[in-house]
Amino acid sequence: MSFNKNIHEILKRRNFAIISHPDAGKTTITEKILLFGRAIQKAGTIKSRGSNKYAKSDWMEIEKQRGISITTSVMQFTYRNYLINLLDTPGHADFSEDTYRTITAVDSCLMVIDATKGVEERTKKLIKITRMRNTPIITFMNKLDREIHNSIELLDLVEKELNIACAPITWPIGCGKTFRGVYHFYKNLVYLYKTGQGHIIQEDNIIEGLENITLDKVIGSNLAKQIRDELEFVKDTTPYFNKKMFLNGTLTPVFFGTALGNFGINHMLDSLVQWSPSPMLRLTNIRTVYPFEEQFTGFVFKIQANMDPKHRDRIAFIRIVSGHYKKNMKIYHVRTGKYMVISDAVTLMVEERSHIQEAYAGDIIGLHNHGTIKIGDTFTQGENINFIGIPNFSPEIFRRITLHNPIKQKQLLKGLVQLSEEGAVQIFRPINNNDLIVGAIGVLQFEVIVARLKNEYNVLATYESVNIITVRWLECKDMHKFELFKRKNELHLALDDANNLVYIAPTIINLNMIRERYPEIKFLNNREH
Ligand code: G4P
Repeated sequence: MSFNKNIHEILKRRNFAIISHPDAGKTTITEKILLFGRAIQKAGTIKSRGSNKYAKSDWMEIEKQRGISITTSVMQFTYRNYLINLLDTPGHADFSEDTYRTITAVDSCLMVIDATKGVEERTKKLIKITRMRNTPIITFMNKLDREIHNSIELLDLVEKELNIACAPITWPIGCGKTFRGVYHFYKNLVYLYKTGQGHIIQEDNIIEGLENITLDKVIGSNLAKQIRDELEFVKDTTPYFNKKMFLNGTLTPVFFGTALGNFGINHMLDSLVQWSPSPMLRLTNIRTVYPFEEQFTGFVFKIQANMDPKHRDRIAFIRIVSGHYKKNMKIYHVRTGKYMVISDAVTLMVEERSHIQEAYAGDIIGLHNHGTIKIGDTFTQGENINFIGIPNFSPEIFRRITLHNPIKQKQLLKGLVQLSEEGAVQIFRPINNNDLIVGAIGVLQFEVIVARLKNEYNVLATYESVNIITVRWLECKDMHKFELFKRKNELHLALDDANNLVYIAPTIINLNMIRERYPEIKFLNNREH
């Protein structure tokens, strides 16, 4: 194995995604991060796409108008000599399996918490996904310009709900109308907050040292005393930052601020580039691939349909694991055993596509294809290896899809299979009837599928509700017992789009009961490609 000459290119890269509950401030933070990365000139240029902001029917139109939505893009920019790849995660109504899989393609995550609310449902789900690879998490407590939960209670909540130790790096001085800034434990600096500066990069207004008399003058001696006492207590009761624990996902450094006021983001970013890992090694079915290897390798974690319905081509997003991409290079598609010359790989920046000449381990490149590339596929320069750990997740919402005109059954199936290959929905075919069940993680996907079936496959379909709470992929070493199980539970069995057997559970109670009854069978929450 020879080593890449471009080690410095790899070492300066940081790949991360933002995880948060809707409305916690992901879009606002992304915007401020891009402002610091000089990728945009002025905050306010990215439109948020909250579920309440656009009627659902507008959605496809919006996607079309924008070419490619910002929520599917990879934003690359530099910050303090580091090159950041920020992979955006669909969040509101467009929440989908892509959100989950994107998390498996990054090396660290920024968790944004609305400090007025605490740990919310979506955050819990997303953190669970980060656990699959012990991804390091940096936490940003947002909306300090509003009345927030008690900061110590917030940390307790994160520790309890998400099972991760919290090491505060900064600490807020007041909140809401009396928010005066933050104290940085490790720099012994007080950063003062100034309102009304949210759309620009502010010069840090700093007081050196907590004991500095200037602090008393600026924030008043009562508040100064109060914060000194509080900080004594916080120091004694919270863990120190420990890089090893951060890197194995058991401790998160915590920052406080306000995205809207653009305050605290740079403190967080400075640590993110310093502490987060550069592109990491990945496992394959045969060996570990290291980022510094000379040979190009990568895996597909997302397929994006072309926005122009007349063109059936899609873009496959490849996370480069090792080596170096160069325009016109020949790469090997392991699943099909074919070589292809890549002359037009794209990078997906905010609202524009541009062709790239070179990319390194950690970067994401987009390849045009007509359905030959699938999620989970591995690309190399000839080696027969397959990256593991790119999962299909059990959908959370299910519907039975029905046709207006039953003659179109074949087109429906073809359309559904092709659309499911993009990874936004999954299809299940019960083994004892002819139903077609569509499963997704976000509700908007159902609408998108019906609209695309109509536009691209000329099939009119609707949905009916169906009594399914979840599905589980099945594994059993004891073939005899497995056959017995299958015979007895035929009514609950279906095949997924890759013909894997799944158990369809109408309720969680049913799932738990069946698990107890058949302890030799594994009921898996996700399936790897
Ligand atoms: P999301 O992408 O996580 O869904 O959140 P987004 O950034 O869209 O923020 C959700 C709402 O919270 C927005 O208000 C946004 O302005 C507000 N917000 C974000 N950060 C802060 C903060 O630090 N302080 C305060 N007070 N508010 C914050 P909105 O009214 O829904 O939308 P808009 O009209 O302001 O765009």
